[in-house]
Amino acid sequence: MSLSLADWLAAQSVDPALISGLASMAASCAEIAVVLRNAPLAGQTGLAGHTNVQGEAQKALDVISNDIVLNHLRANPQISILISEEMHEAVHFENQGRFIVATDPLDGSSNLDVNVTVGTIFSILDAKGGILQPGSAQLAAGYAAYGPATSLVLTLGKGVGVFTLDEAGTFRLTTDTVSVPEASSEFAINTARERFWDEATRGYVAENIAGETGAAGKRYNMRWVGSMVADIHRILMRGGIFLYPLDSETLAKGGRLRLLYEANPMAMLIEAAGGRSTTGRQRILDLMPSAIHQRVPVILGSADEVKRVEDWYSRAG
Ligand code: AHG
Ligand code: MN
Ligand code: MN
Repeated sequence: MSLSLADWLAAQSVDPALISGLASMAASCAEIAVVLRNAPLAGQTGLAGHTNVQGEAQKALDVISNDIVLNHLRANPQISILISEEMHEAVHFENQGRFIVATDPLDGSSNLDVNVTVGTIFSILDAKGGILQPGSAQLAAGYAAYGPATSLVLTLGKGVGVFTLDEAGTFRLTTDTVSVPEASSEFAINTARERFWDEATRGYVAENIAGETGAAGKRYNMRWVGSMVADIHRILMRGGIFLYPLDSETLAKGGRLRLLYEANPMAMLIEAAGGRSTTGRQRILDLMPSAIHQRVPVILGSADEVKRVEDWYSRAG
């Protein structure tokens, strides 16, 4: 039988306190997987009846998933602060815990009632650095993808491990040789937003659509699940590029996706597997956050494709 997550972590020669934080997130994800699997039978679908800090309607499962993470982390003396998409303020636990967890407890909620892959995204930081730290300071990052199988994908900086939840509720190693291919011909973007796009996004996508008849000189395919976790998981496993760029509609907010618990952990994972991440003009992991729910443009995936987008931005000035 393949290595359990606990055994794999023990072999990584990392701080046991950090391992304990990761174990709490893994336990949260295993519990959320069970809830999601049974939600349609348990009547847990639909709206919760309130909106979160982002002004988005919370689903019942957003609230349940947030509570599961909150309960696991509150019980762990190593974690002193929790930042969550579903909570207005950072939660300070009454302990001297050394770590901060930032999480999107349930990503892709719009896909919940149609049984499409959703996920939990998380980032772990040293509490000494305070709640606003650049992504480059992350000690670990990961996500769970609740699909046909439940996958837990983790990085401690170098390399990415993928684990699969078994029937007994243990995550077991599937692969730790994940590498995002440099070249790819798959792109993921919500093309219904085309009328809001800037020149760089328009130019890059137009070249892809032109295929072998355009400047890119090869044929592309488009994929968009609408769950960041599902789109990024595909890109980690077989390459591609994901774009949620700044556009004229999201300009005032700074973008669509959130820096601390969506962009940063995904950028760390993609880079740890050899890929690249940018806002179009800056490496995501170098951004200095100014607020816990800050939004940013997100472009990440296969290095060659991300570089092409960066070239478009530098030409656009
Ligand atoms: P969340 O469900 O946590 O609010 O995040 C949804 C995000 C992300 O999963 C996805 O990439 C994006 O929103 C989808 O955006 P569109 O609605 O524009 O497709
Ligand atoms: Mn999300
Ligand atoms: Mn969410």
